[in-house]
Amino acid sequence: MIEEHYPARVRIVEVSPRDGLQNEPAAVDVATKVALIEALANAGLQAIECGSFVSEKRVPQMANTAEVLSALRRSRGVDYSVLVPNLQGLEAAVRSEITNIAIFAAASETFSQHNIQCSIAESLSRFRAVTEQALAHGMRVRGYVSCVLGCPYEGIVAPEAVVRVAKALLDMGCYEISLGDTIGVGTPLAAQALIRQVAEHVAISRLAVHFHDTYGQALANILAALQLGVAVIDAAVSGLGGCPYAPGATGNVATEDVVYMLNGMHIETGIDLDKLTAAGQTISAALGRESKSKAAAATRRKSR
Ligand code: HMG
Ligand code: MG
Repeated sequence: MIEEHYPARVRIVEVSPRDGLQNEPAAVDVATKVALIEALANAGLQAIECGSFVSEKRVPQMANTAEVLSALRRSRGVDYSVLVPNLQGLEAAVRSEITNIAIFAAASETFSQHNIQCSIAESLSRFRAVTEQALAHGMRVRGYVSCVLGCPYEGIVAPEAVVRVAKALLDMGCYEISLGDTIGVGTPLAAQALIRQVAEHVAISRLAVHFHDTYGQALANILAALQLGVAVIDAAVSGLGGCPYAPGATGNVATEDVVYMLNGMHIETGIDLDKLTAAGQTISAALGRESKSKAAAATRRKSR
């Protein structure tokens, strides 16, 4: 019997400018990215992952992150963050006056090697050094664990491996751990079983969920996570996204769909769904593609 105690309020971490655009076939210019981030802030998003300071050779789509951050008009009360893989990335974040970074480890060895060219153990010692320096700079550090419900190379991932990495990230000083279903293979009961296991070591209040929607399970998985009290959800407007090192994986859950569901459940987000939908339409048009959000498509049909 599942105990249902939905949170009264959910914090959405909008990852479209980073996770959403890192896998785009064509480079997205600075003005388009800035317009997206400003529209998201204007829609009420209070946590926006704006880009990443990673190797340009590995992820060319993120090469203009510093320019984006310098052109951006930052709104008060919005937490702008970037993804950082090492000390070089941390230095770039400091130069861009970013006070919140995200580090990213994996629960699968093979994915870790493909994504960041090192073992899980090596990545954790690298991230420990990054976190130590970031905290000394007064920054906040968020930790991702990738492949929590499956790996594109290894298939099944043991929940114990997820727990080990989540706990290591928490112990080094991360304020929050985001559990990433990188390839979107998870289903609700598997997600709940994993969250229950991780929550024995990391308080539910410090957990976030990050579902890619490859198999159309993301919203169901989010509902399952909410039932256990998880109150932080990563999402990308229009369902943009994917990881260049996760073959076959599609975008994140669409923020519009998450907000539509939470509105219907009377769970507060502080987000204006109309403005969010407009932001999604603008970026989809700029990329020359249809939004993957069903809520956005329904709104469009209704307004015709
Ligand atoms: P490496 O080859 O071991 O690094 O890569 P290195 O230190 O030997 O450096 C190699 C080159 O990269 C050098 O340049 C460095 O300057 C440069 P060169 O001398 O050849 O011209 N470099 C950098 N440049 C800019 N910023 C940096 C940086 N570091 C090195 N910070 C490394 C290791 C981690 C750097 C590399 O593998 C990398 O950048 N990987 C990118 C990983 C990535 O961004 N993946 C996608 C995001 S993760 C994700 O999507 C999952 C998530 O959404 C959650 C989920 O869904 O599960 C978060
Ligand atoms: Mg992701």
